[in-house]
Amino acid sequence: MKGVVLAGGLGSRLRPLTAVTNKHLLPVFNQPMIYYPIQTLVNAGITDIMIVTGGNSAGDFLKLLGNGKAFGLKHLNYTYQEGEGGIAAALSLVEHFAGDDAICVVLGDNIIEGNIRAAADSYREQRSGAKILLKRVSDPQRFGVPELNGKHVLRIEEKPAQPKSDYAVIGIYMYDARVFEIIRALKPSGRGELEITDVNNAYIERGEMTWDELAGWWSDAGTFESLLYASNLVAETGANKLETEHAAEAGANA
Ligand code: DAU
Repeated sequence: MKGVVLAGGLGSRLRPLTAVTNKHLLPVFNQPMIYYPIQTLVNAGITDIMIVTGGNSAGDFLKLLGNGKAFGLKHLNYTYQEGEGGIAAALSLVEHFAGDDAICVVLGDNIIEGNIRAAADSYREQRSGAKILLKRVSDPQRFGVPELNGKHVLRIEEKPAQPKSDYAVIGIYMYDARVFEIIRALKPSGRGELEITDVNNAYIERGEMTWDELAGWWSDAGTFESLLYASNLVAETGANKLETEHAAEAGANA
């Protein structure tokens, strides 16, 4: 399985912090935000990774991350999203990179305490379709929210005023290569974006979606409140450390 980190968009909810730089270069406690989703992938055993960036300071990702040596990687792939067409629009740019392989997509502002290795392994066994990860939250209306019937997801609503559960769909998604066909058929939402929730609903309609509950804490870092919250959680728990044997040598989490 290949990995994708989506770090495009304009970060408008964090202005003026994002007026001259990309949101994913901002610090979350002691590391740039983009380090966390890369560590999430590497800790799940995924080492062939593409970063989709965009907006301001795109060249700084190359300066900061280079070929990925700090994460024990031999190489990193990059591409550039023009404008802010939505998460699914950013994902469409990696089609040539993914080829026929499955992908694990991590939103660049999503930070987790633990490891998704078990979910990645169970998706590898699933072999096709999609998998999402859910987490119980106190403010589901900020996120994609599933309607559940036991182990079945019936539908996902994006930022619903009246959530049908107290789960959020977190920004880590696993898809087979048919995801790009699905994206091509999407229409922009009311906010003018190609929505990842519409991609997930397409898999649900085909009966090809599974979900796991994420262990440990999770936060996005796309608003002032969540950026502070995530920084404090990392500071208190020392979470999301790089687990490869290269970590100590590279000093990535020093
Ligand atoms: O954090 C999880 C939530 O992320 C999910 O529960 C929602 O279903 C999903 O739509 C998303 O919601 P947000 O409104 O928080 O997404 P946001 O626009 O903040 O984008 C999240 C990341 O996706 C961002 O850090 C970079 C990437 N992105 C986003 C857009 C709009 C891109 O790469 N390109 C884009 O055009």
